[in-house]
Amino acid sequence: MTARIIDGKALAHSLRTQYRERVAQLKTQGVAPGLAVILVGDNPASKVYVGNKVKACEECGVASFHHSLPAEAGEADVLALIARLNADPTVHGILVQLPLPPHIDVRRVLEAIAVDKDVDGFHLYNVGGLVVGNTIFPPCTPYGVQLLLETTGIDVAGKNAVIVGASNIVGKPMALMLLQKEATVTICHAKTRDLAQHTILADILIAAAGKPGLIVPQMVKQGAIVIDVGINRLPDNRIVGDVDFDGVKEKASWITPVPGGVGPMTVTMLIENTLKSAELRLGTGQGIGHQGWDSVTLP
Ligand code: GUN
Repeated sequence: MTARIIDGKALAHSLRTQYRERVAQLKTQGVAPGLAVILVGDNPASKVYVGNKVKACEECGVASFHHSLPAEAGEADVLALIARLNADPTVHGILVQLPLPPHIDVRRVLEAIAVDKDVDGFHLYNVGGLVVGNTIFPPCTPYGVQLLLETTGIDVAGKNAVIVGASNIVGKPMALMLLQKEATVTICHAKTRDLAQHTILADILIAAAGKPGLIVPQMVKQGAIVIDVGINRLPDNRIVGDVDFDGVKEKASWITPVPGGVGPMTVTMLIENTLKSAELRLGTGQGIGHQGWDSVTLP
């Protein structure tokens, strides 16, 4: 069996087309949605990601306010900028690109963002919302994965979902979202012994470890859905995921490619959250939301 491709690029394109209409609707009501992006320092990968976010804003008609601070900027400078953006009514979303330089306390910075502008979903308030199944802004990468899974038409309730990678940005929130949808969730990480023993049981396997070629066919159950969150640049400059795509596609039932899978969805969900923020401000919240995902309250 050769897996069917879950086409993130196509889904992202279709959503962004819908977002242009939502932006137009907001503008007729006097609201021009705006996203502020803060980049501290000159990490080349971060520059590319921020560039993609600004481009996506342009594509959807969302105003973007790009703030670049030098690597030597102090924590107080970042906090002062966030305070200004929190108070700015033209800004509906604030994103601080991670990682921050080591002299800046990332938690203090994330906690300074107004919770109703926290479109990355990294503030403790939004993380807590995720824990109880009632988040306003789901973190963008797992949110994008949710929508990609929905396109397969397969109900995740009761399925074994195995996530490889326990980061705050992807692995942990992904686990909470899948648990909310009643999957049986396992999180594997760098200290997990015999990774394959866990992954082989996965009906849904999500690779988010940042290690090229980590997931090989022998680790994958026949017919599994495989989602590759990895974005790794090889020495020859090729971009690959964490999954041996050519091998694993012969065992999986569905698989995301890299590039063209999760990546375009991450940026798209940032626009979704920004529009949701603007609509909530107006009292007309109508996001595609996370239908179904928030509807189940586990005891
Ligand atoms: N760095 C890597 N991924 C992300 C993300 O989703 N949001 C932010 N702010 N920084 C990141």
